[in-house]
Amino acid sequence: MAEKITEQAVLSALSTVIEPELHRDLVSLNMIRNLKIDGNDVTFTIMLTTPACPLRGRMEQDARAALAKVPGIGKVTINWDANVPTDRRLTNQLGQVFRNTIAVSSGKGGVGKTTIAVNLAIALAKEGARVGLLDADILGPNVPMMMGVEKMPPPQDRKLTPAEKYGVKFISMAFLVKPDQPLIWRGPMLHSAIRQLLTDVAWGELDYLIIDLPPGTGDAQLTLAQILPLSGAIVITQPMQVAASDALRGLKMFEKLDVPIVGVIENMSGEFFGTGAGEKLAQEQGVNFLGAVPLDANVRVGGDSGEPIVVAYPDSPAATALRQIAREVAARVSVLTLANQASNVIPIEMID
Ligand SMILES: Nc1ncnc2c1ncn2[C@@H]1O[C@H](COP(=O)(O)OP(=O)(O)OP(=O)(O)O)[C@@H](O)[C@H]1O
Ligand SMILES: [Mg+2]
Repeated sequence: MAEKITEQAVLSALSTVIEPELHRDLVSLNMIRNLKIDGNDVTFTIMLTTPACPLRGRMEQDARAALAKVPGIGKVTINWDANVPTDRRLTNQLGQVFRNTIAVSSGKGGVGKTTIAVNLAIALAKEGARVGLLDADILGPNVPMMMGVEKMPPPQDRKLTPAEKYGVKFISMAFLVKPDQPLIWRGPMLHSAIRQLLTDVAWGELDYLIIDLPPGTGDAQLTLAQILPLSGAIVITQPMQVAASDALRGLKMFEKLDVPIVGVIENMSGEFFGTGAGEKLAQEQGVNFLGAVPLDANVRVGGDSGEPIVVAYPDSPAATALRQIAREVAARVSVLTLANQASNVIPIEMID
């Protein structure tokens, strides 16, 4: 006669499975939920810290291998769910519920910040995360064009309604000014414009607010860090060494502002501009290298046509790289945010 499977035996097997990012076991991290035993068959849910978890496959393999050692075990069914941890510093900020805020930056212009911000936002949304995209480039707002949206919906209850496309909510100064209207503003006006796009918008609850910054290390970056705690900043660089020195300035600025660096992305990688400066910069600065996005004409076409490459050619090398980077970003942000929490477990009270 087969042995009876107990909850204790299952949990004890699962407590040997280590979450590869958090380096603790699934049971003590409180990731095992809804455990049900029916005869010899076992069903449970693994609660991830992000729906975009890059290591789902590995965790499933490890969990199945561990359970296979339980004598008499029958069919194992694993369901998945995610509860993105909240960066506690963001609680009660600006009347919004942002669980994490991620700034996309670079030391200089034209390296692909907006392109990457847009594609990351869409990739995360496709994985099932609730994503907002704030165009904090007040003077050169490009997000609506890249998303292929000209107007935002009418305001409701005295709040701006963000535009929504490809599963991403977004807002931009481009919606609020005429395209041919020059924007010559001083610092304080920039400050209040960014603040308004954060506070006066009906964002709803977001797992990730991605923030597309203007180039450089100026007012907008400072302002943003003053208005709202940033969970992390992503630094974009081109693959040439000369570009990396600009990126380094950007990286150092965030360190000065006490904003953790999520990692470095190399954009426009390939034969034309070369490869390697991004990874080298990351190594030298002791931060994560999140990946390289190849130079690909379809990336530009996607930006110009309002159909970003992760939508237009999701299986192209550039889109594949962007989707992988999005998962990496999500994983790194989970680690940063959980490290900041007193109890390093995936909280139960926040399940929707
Ligand atoms: N990997 C890539 N391959 C080909 N073209 C790209 C790639 N990444 C970005 N581009 C193109 O390069 C141009 C600049 O990109 P983007 O506007 O995203 O840069 P940015 O850093 O946001 O610029 P700014 O500093 O002006 O805000 C765009 O035309 C975009 O489509
Ligand atoms: Mg830009």
